[in-house]
Amino acid sequence: MNLLTVFFSLSWLVSVALGSSCRSLYGQKCWPNASDFSALESQISQPLIYPKPSASACYPVSSPSGNCTDVQVNQFDGNWRANQSGSQQYPNFESYIFNNGSISACYLNTTLGVPCQQGSVPVIGVDARSVGDIQAAVKFAVKHNLRLAVKNTGHDNTGRSTARGSFLIWTHHLKNMTYNPSFIPEGAPSTETYNAMTLGAGVQWHEAYDAVQAQGRVLVGGSSSGGSVGAAGGWLLGGGHSALSPHYGLGVDNVIELNIVTSTGEYLTVNSHKNSDLFWAVRGGGGGTYGIVTSVTYRTHPSLPLTAVFFAANSTNNITFNKLLTEFMRIQSSLADAGFSGYALIAPDAIQWFYIALNVTQAQANKTVDPFFAFANNLTSEGLKVSSALTQPFPSFYSWYTLLYTATGQAVGLISEIASRLITRDVIEQNPQALADTIISMNGAVWHLVAGGAVSKVDPDSTGVNPAWREALTHVVWGQGWDEGASASEINQMRAALAKTLEKLSTLTGSSAYFNEAFMFESNPKYTFFGDHYDKLKSIKDIYDPVGLFVVREGVGSDDWDASLNCRN
Ligand SMILES: Cc1cc2nc3c(=O)[nH]c(=O)nc-3n(C[C@H](O)[C@H](O)[C@H](O)COP(=O)(O)OP(=O)(O)OC[C@H]3O[C@@H](n4cnc5c(N)ncnc54)[C@H](O)[C@@H]3O)c2cc1C
Ligand SMILES: *[C@@H]1O[C@H](CO)[C@@H](O)[C@H](O)[C@H]1NC(C)=O
Ligand SMILES: *[C@@H]1O[C@H](CO)[C@@H](O)[C@H](O)[C@H]1NC(C)=O
Ligand SMILES: *[C@@H]1O[C@H](CO)[C@@H](O)[C@H](O)[C@H]1NC(C)=O
Ligand SMILES: *[C@@H]1O[C@H](CO)[C@@H](O)[C@H](O)[C@H]1NC(C)=O
Ligand SMILES: *[C@@H]1O[C@H](CO)[C@@H](O)[C@H](O)[C@H]1NC(C)=O
Ligand SMILES: *[C@@H]1O[C@H](CO)[C@@H](O)[C@H](O)[C@H]1NC(C)=O
Ligand SMILES: *[C@@H]1O[C@H](CO)[C@@H](O)[C@H](O)[C@H]1NC(C)=O
Ligand SMILES: *[C@@H]1O[C@H](CO)[C@@H](O)[C@H](O)[C@H]1NC(C)=O
Ligand SMILES: *[C@@H]1O[C@H](CO)[C@@H](O)[C@H](O)[C@H]1NC(C)=O
Ligand SMILES: *[C@@H]1O[C@H](CO)[C@@H](O)[C@H](O)[C@H]1NC(C)=O
Ligand SMILES: *[C@@H]1O[C@H](CO)[C@@H](O)[C@H](O)[C@H]1NC(C)=O
Repeated sequence: MNLLTVFFSLSWLVSVALGSSCRSLYGQKCWPNASDFSALESQISQPLIYPKPSASACYPVSSPSGNCTDVQVNQFDGNWRANQSGSQQYPNFESYIFNNGSISACYLNTTLGVPCQQGSVPVIGVDARSVGDIQAAVKFAVKHNLRLAVKNTGHDNTGRSTARGSFLIWTHHLKNMTYNPSFIPEGAPSTETYNAMTLGAGVQWHEAYDAVQAQGRVLVGGSSSGGSVGAAGGWLLGGGHSALSPHYGLGVDNVIELNIVTSTGEYLTVNSHKNSDLFWAVRGGGGGTYGIVTSVTYRTHPSLPLTAVFFAANSTNNITFNKLLTEFMRIQSSLADAGFSGYALIAPDAIQWFYIALNVTQAQANKTVDPFFAFANNLTSEGLKVSSALTQPFPSFYSWYTLLYTATGQAVGLISEIASRLITRDVIEQNPQALADTIISMNGAVWHLVAGGAVSKVDPDSTGVNPAWREALTHVVWGQGWDEGASASEINQMRAALAKTLEKLSTLTGSSAYFNEAFMFESNPKYTFFGDHYDKLKSIKDIYDPVGLFVVREGVGSDDWDASLNCRN
């Protein structure tokens, strides 16, 4: 025997001793058989589900298996997509690219002439309605060594809620909501009460906002068209930013208690009195990493009036638009200090700006923004077209949110991969011109003034979330799309272009970013998404998920696995 042979026989022995080092996938011999699945089905409240790609109803083209019109009409509706067990909000995550460049996909564009294939959509799963359903599903996944996908709404921007050949646990129908103005966390003294709202893991922001509005209160939550993002899943576990965050902190700063099923099948209550290490870790350590959250209890806040800004302008003169955007960057920290927060959609030649100033009168808000409006007005002689420049009072966050997000918001249903960075106040104050130049050269970005204020007042080490959030003032996201049917090499070119823009912006901003709105190919994801919290996050993961059931792209512990996340390194 030569050395190489010795080495290979030893590593074979080691892998036998540890059990299989790879997950069992659909189609393989080790995949559970029909009687295994029927045994599972007898333990759960619903029939097993067989998820399909969004466009599968349109196939076969000659005689569609379902209502293709329904898919065509609703493809851009985030709530419709969330209702489908097999859908991802960005359909590219339903596809799978093999190492040889072949793509398994189910295109909505049937004229491409490609038969519908399953891609990265899980083949079978559990439509969870109770804690018991989740416990049974988790135990089944562990027993059979399955690759697991945990999906809530499918908004994840890196496809973490789906995986080729996997078994799905779908949390969408866990819709319970309970309001309790004097909630006492388990294990807390009876004097520790909170005005709180408990949400099942499948509740979406539009539902949570309606319910808390009915109590005359407010929750710190996300913004998306139709409110389709989940209120108690990945959004929270990765951090959770909101237009209200500069006033009340991130999602992780507003959670009081969670209930979680871990990979041992245990059902734990997690708060600052019970399992406090896990409570620290799930507040930012990422969805799909520590266990399956079944419900979340948030503090609520009083409903306050606000003043909103609606500004939109564009110019075909790039020098003029650059001046406007530089001024916009220059005033960010004073806007933040005056109580403003919110979003701006920046194109290379246009901006749409939606901020709010909570509990600030219109007269006061006007004083802050009028100089910028005047600046913009001055630029009309240099070719700037201003289509709106006004402030408007709203009685509540709910009324503003409802107006804005019923009609508009980030588009879903389109092919998209993104990149993002957190930006500190110093960087913005020192480089307004360079930031404007770079964002224009990147073909625009979505600008979020969602940090600073209350977010920076929290001790960075009091939760697991990336400590970079505590230093940040803004978070900026941009993306790249392509057409259905693009080849793997075309897709790789898009990814390379995105990486290039990211590199360019990072020379100004550094490399910290938000786990939930993330580039899929970060060079140092541990630092970028978790900073110096990584090691502690990993050691807590190893305690609560000793078998490594929960693995997601760029997540804590994911580097114990190969690129497919199916085999241990
Ligand atoms: C249109 C749009 C708008 C957005 N707006 C905001 C915003 O305003 N603020 C913000 O902070 N982010 C925002 N995001 C990003 C958002 O936070 C992430 O997409 C997040 O992952 C969504 O979580 P989800 O549970 O809804 O989605 P999913 O894709 O279903 O899940 C995301 C991740 O969490 C895991 N997960 C889901 N549920 C559970 C659970 N119960 N237990 C354990 N793990 C779970 C999944 O496995 C996956 O890894 C937005 C994204 C989009 C596409
Ligand atoms: C199915 O697989 C299980 C092991 O997972 C095995 O015990 C059982 O005999 C198999 N049943 C059939 C019908 O093949
Ligand atoms: C198909 O979907 C469309 C659009 O949602 C709907 O109007 C129509 O009634 C549906 N048809 C059937 C047969 O269900
Ligand atoms: C999603 O499903 C719920 C419950 O069945 C339904 O009320 C809602 O209208 C659906 N939303 C969309 C956009 O299809
Ligand atoms: C690429 O690999 C997949 C999976 O192994 C295989 O099914 C497919 O036929 C291959 N395609 C080509 C063009 O070789
Ligand atoms: C669908 O694909 C065909 C063939 O490539 C193309 O000509 C057409 O523009 C595509 N349609 C849409 C809506 O993308
Ligand atoms: C939802 O609430 C109902 C009624 O209070 C309760 O019976 C059920 O157990 C709850 N479901 C979950 C998953 O907590
Ligand atoms: C404007 O566009 C011209 C031509 O593309 C380019 O040379 C110049 O650098 C741009 N100026 C700014 C300020 O972006
Ligand atoms: C809102 O503004 C009023 C009047 O200025 C002030 O008394 C109150 O403390 C403010 N509330 C919050 C929560 O900022
Ligand atoms: C508008 O332009 C004039 C002339 O260039 C200048 O004096 C004035 O300061 C500008 N006003 C603003 C608000 O920028
Ligand atoms: C630019 O602004 C003008 C004036 O409001 C508007 O009519 C036009 O549609 C805008 N163009 C773009 C590309 O946004
Ligand atoms: C604030 O400015 C808006 C225009 O943006 C104007 O309609 C409103 O009258 C002003 N309100 C006060 C109180 O100054």
